[in-house]
Amino acid sequence: MRVLQVASEAAPFAKTGGLADVAGSLPAALERIGCSCTLVMPAYRQVFESGVAIEPAGVAFDVPVGQRHLRAEIFRSTLPGSNVPVYFVGNEACFDRPTLYGGAHDYHDNAERFILFSRAVMELAGRLEQPFDILHGHDWQAGLIPAYRQLLYAEHPAFARSATIQTIHNMAYQGTFWHWDMLLTGIDWKYFNWRQMECHGQLNFLKTGLVFADAITTVSPTYAGEIQSAPGGCGLEGVVASRTDVLTGIVNGIDTSGWNPQTDPLIPRHYSEADIAAGKDAAKIALAARLGHAAPDPRPLVSFVGRLAEQKGVDLLAEMISRVAGDGRAHFVILGTGDPGHEEALRRLAASFPGTVDVVIGFRELLAHLIQAASDIVLMPSRFEPCGLSQLYAFRYGAIPVVRATGGLVDTVVDTTPATLAAGTASGFVFRDFDSRGLEHALGRALDAHADVATWQQLVTSVMQQDWSWDASARKYLELYEQILSRPPAPPPELAE
Ligand code: ADP
Ligand code: GLC
Repeated sequence: MRVLQVASEAAPFAKTGGLADVAGSLPAALERIGCSCTLVMPAYRQVFESGVAIEPAGVAFDVPVGQRHLRAEIFRSTLPGSNVPVYFVGNEACFDRPTLYGGAHDYHDNAERFILFSRAVMELAGRLEQPFDILHGHDWQAGLIPAYRQLLYAEHPAFARSATIQTIHNMAYQGTFWHWDMLLTGIDWKYFNWRQMECHGQLNFLKTGLVFADAITTVSPTYAGEIQSAPGGCGLEGVVASRTDVLTGIVNGIDTSGWNPQTDPLIPRHYSEADIAAGKDAAKIALAARLGHAAPDPRPLVSFVGRLAEQKGVDLLAEMISRVAGDGRAHFVILGTGDPGHEEALRRLAASFPGTVDVVIGFRELLAHLIQAASDIVLMPSRFEPCGLSQLYAFRYGAIPVVRATGGLVDTVVDTTPATLAAGTASGFVFRDFDSRGLEHALGRALDAHADVATWQQLVTSVMQQDWSWDASARKYLELYEQILSRPPAPPPELAE
């Protein structure tokens, strides 16, 4: 079986969030169980700065984007630690930019950039020696791939047997653009209707993927349920609900070689369940130095690492910390970048509680690892969370997550109660309602548990032993691929009445 994974970012080449972690590790996990994967992504400036060797593939072609033909120059590399070939679609004007998608505002031409990318993926796949059985696209940036497969490339010999999968990592980002961008896609205007590519008068890339894909997946079973109604579906709940027969929720795995306290080159001292305290102490010393403190703080370290977006509950976090920081029970460390309003609010918070609240604004891979290693408690007060990876990294690094019961956090974190402690399943502290009092209460429970040495030791040891590697989830993807290929080919798409 040959699978083409199509993603707009993949670690270690370019990353803004968890999608990159998934796209950078799922293909290798599939390869390990006998499924041949190839990955394709844009050749951003960041790819060439990633430190991984990238070479020209010796392939270039013109891609029709509206009335113009844009050049796609292909580069290639290999996913580190695997034999997975990676292709990069290059076009300097589109991808040689300071950030992947824009800053406070998206780039004005993101429709054009990802139309070029998607069309180039089809052209590239059609030119490679062997055809692909599955075209597996991730998020809105790959949403046009299933439509291209069905509408423009149905007759192409390379795609005669290929089926498409659309994976939703986040319903809140749909790739919506003004209707005239439809002309850039090269797809007949008749498909710009409310049943197919249009949504509230706009061209919607994610909806397109959901409508035309042979199968849909999302990154946890709970999120698969949440997106079938409002508000989880973010306006596309009707589309998702109409396709539940082909929808599966598969929880993400983690790259256990990149995120492993026993081998992580980004932390000062390697550790396992046997010497957690020594590992954490060393990480705390290194973190204190990076934060400009003379010595590590003896209080429990409570952290947050993530995109500063509404999704992550940053407002709750700031509200809760401003209320409890004064009582001195914990040291808070926050690393994030995103919404300028959130960034400013967090900077102000740090200024109000020097020595108790540290805030670093920016995207820092090394600090993300160091904070996980140094942390006792990791906060994820998400408004919604399709899967979430930070809680899984926290487990591995012996930190206990405090999470809101939403999406993948429900599927991965078990609240600590006398019963779950006795059963050995407890793995975090969970609160339900989206309010800062709930978060405060859950953190309070976590700090109480931390003060009880035996309980904490039990919790930390058991989460470190949990297996969130890709093995089980990659098998589920493989089963799904096999299942789709055994189905009769989908009938050609009908136009809405
Ligand atoms: P999401 O994909 O919604 O951003 P996840 O929990 O799935 O959330 O994944 C987030 C990933 O991005 C993790 O690998 C996390 O360490 C990383 N990350 C988020 N913000 C930062 C940051 N400011 N610096 C470094 N890494 C970050
Ligand atoms: C998204 C989600 C996050 C998920 C990640 C990888 O960005 O916000 O919950 O873990 O994708 O699937």
